[in-house]
Order: sequence, then structure tokens, then C-alpha cells
Amino acid sequence: MKELKDSEINPLASLDNWEDDVLTRYPDPESIATTRSTEEYRQYDDPARDTVREFYKLNHTYQTYEFVQEKRKDFLAFSREEKTIWEAFDFLNQLVDDSDPDTDLDQFQHLLQTSEAIRADGHPDWMVLTGLMHDMGKVLCLFGEPQWAVVGDTFPVGCAFSDKIVYSEFFALNPDSNNPKYNTKLGIYEEGCGLRNVTMSWGHDEYVYQMMKDYLPEPALYMLRYHSFYSWHREGEYGYLLDDHDREMLKWVKLFNPYDLYSKSPVAPNWEEIKGYYHELIAKYLPEKLKF
Ligand SMILES: [Fe+2]
Ligand SMILES: [Fe+2]
Repeated sequence: MKELKDSEINPLASLDNWEDDVLTRYPDPESIATTRSTEEYRQYDDPARDTVREFYKLNHTYQTYEFVQEKRKDFLAFSREEKTIWEAFDFLNQLVDDSDPDTDLDQFQHLLQTSEAIRADGHPDWMVLTGLMHDMGKVLCLFGEPQWAVVGDTFPVGCAFSDKIVYSEFFALNPDSNNPKYNTKLGIYEEGCGLRNVTMSWGHDEYVYQMMKDYLPEPALYMLRYHSFYSWHREGEYGYLLDDHDREMLKWVKLFNPYDLYSKSPVAPNWEEIKGYYHELIAKYLPEKLKF
């Protein structure tokens, strides 16, 4: 078998290329807490587009039901290491973008801009904390996981893939598409079983949800767990898997999403001024150390 080059395993020059591409699909309808216009967000060249396409090809090919089960077994044991929240942010920040070091914000800045935009709009403090933590799961990359198993739109596995998922044509390459157990509308699930009984493709959403599930209220957990499930919260797909609780929680996922997508600004918040608030917020909800 031929050895894969790193660019073949990880086609994105930066994890942000995925999020930039999401922005071209769902541009900011009215700019909230941002100084950049939608047009500015959309300005990037075609080579980046190609790498996003290549990225989704890998994601859609390899995210099988079985693959997800293996990753859950491994990472959801949380047996790697323990870190304080501040050590965890430092760790996450080791993820640097080599594509555009001048203008790209580090991971912590994206988290802080998200949480500050939520705070500025007067939402509850647990939602501010959700904004601050929502991408912590990206540390999976630092544990050696490929990009396609960390970021990208998430979707249910174990049943037919929606054709509203971006680049859905690549699901033809996924072995589950040919498996009669998994390739029907409901697959292994029952109608209306609720998302809690549905296994999602593996990535940073599920990982951070599992990390936070004992500490934050239910709407926060939906925001964390489903923030990249665009075919649900933006396209309205998979209605047949939902229960009343999911339908109730959808409004929270929708409330959160614009803060994630549209809060990026080249101006960093003044950390010295706000760090006291965040130290208190973290102490209020989270334990001394997080397990990874
Ligand atoms: Fe995310
Ligand atoms: Fe994010």
C-alpha cells in the first residue's frame, strides 16, 4: 500500500478553512458583533475550496458506524491526561495555522470572541461558558487524529446519509452506504427515538459534550454536541429521528450557531479587563481539572 503524504491525510492548511467554508454556505444575514462583512468572509481562493472538498471526501468515506464506535471507546474513556482549564487552553493553542499566521486568530481567541459576543447580548452565564468551551474538542488533532475525524459537519451514522449534507456525493465511497443494516432511512434506529439514541459521526462536538456533560445545563449540552450538525439545525433534515425534547432544544442550538460563525473579528478582546470574569465563571461551573 502506498504511503500517504500528510497533505493527503490532512488536506486543510488550517482547521479554519473548514469554518470559512461553512460561512460561504451560511453567510451572516445581519452582522452581529463583527466588524467584517460577509463579502470579506467569502474572499478566499479556489485552492482552499479544493482542499475543503478533499477534506470532505475523506470525512464522508471513513466516518462509518464502526469507525465511530472505535473512537468512542478510545476517547470517551478519558484516560489520557488531566489538565486544568488554563492548561487545556494552552494545549489547544498549540494548534497553529501555518497557512496565514498573521491574520488567523489562535483557537483561544475564537473561543473568547464567541463567548464575549454571547455575553454582550446578555445571555445566561452558562451560555457564555459554552461559547468559551465549544471547540475544546479540537485537541483531538493534538492527539494525532486526522482533520476529518475532528472537524467538519457532523451527521448520524447507522442510517442513510442525508443528501443535504455538504458534498453528500462522497458518501457513495462510505462502506455503510452499501450495508443493508445501515443504508435505509432509519437504519439501526427507531422512528422518533431521539438524538440521544443516535450515534453521530466522530469529532470535536461529541468529545467536548462528553467532557462537559456533568457540568452544564441541558441547552448548553445540545449547543456543544450538535453545533456542527448543520443538516439538522440549518437544513431541517433527520426529522424522523427526533423526539419532542430534541425539537424543544433545537432553538438553543440555533441561538448558539451565529455566535460561533459570525463573531470572528480581527480585534482581540482585552484579556486583562475580562480575565477576572472568566476565572469566576469557570470556578462556578467547572471542576479543578478536566480529563482528556
Ligand atoms: Fe466547532
Ligand atoms: Fe467554533
